[in-house]
Amino acid sequence: MQRTLILLKPDSVQRRLVGTLIHRFEQKGLRLVGMKLVQASRELAEQHYAVHKGKPFYESLLSFLTSGPTVALVWEGREAVAVARGLMGATDGTKAPPATIRGDFALSVQNNLVHGSDSVENATTEINLWFSAAELVSWQPADANWVG
Ligand code: RTP
Ligand code: MG
Repeated sequence: MQRTLILLKPDSVQRRLVGTLIHRFEQKGLRLVGMKLVQASRELAEQHYAVHKGKPFYESLLSFLTSGPTVALVWEGREAVAVARGLMGATDGTKAPPATIRGDFALSVQNNLVHGSDSVENATTEINLWFSAAELVSWQPADANWVG
């Protein structure tokens, strides 16, 4: 069982897509174990996107992530990291296929609505960055035997 960090970035909130996007992850069968609305500070954004420091789009990316509220989510399930990345689609909205979040709702490279951890190791780091242990809830879904 894996956990992954998903961010509904400020464009998701501004475009009133929060409910629609949470529904995508619920529909797939992933289990919600953490959820909160966060105004990301510059420091948090820097830590979250540290891997991109020095790239041409880095400053713009930090401005974007700190421009308004973000919904931070932790989802749990079999292969949750890869499953969530699949639901999101390619980074560039023009390249993401239909029936993915970015394929259905994004044209932009930067304003692509969602972040998802790209490895199990990074998921652990990112979950610990955005959530305290007390903010994560372990629970057993009643339909676990049906959903898997
Ligand atoms: P994320 O980290 O947000 O889940 O997205 P990702 O793995 O699909 O893409 P990544 O390469 O990690 O890039 C992080 C975010 O930076 C913005 N970006 N802008 N202007 C550009 O060329 C460019 N490239 C990436 C996007 O917001 C991307 O999600
Ligand atoms: Mg990434």
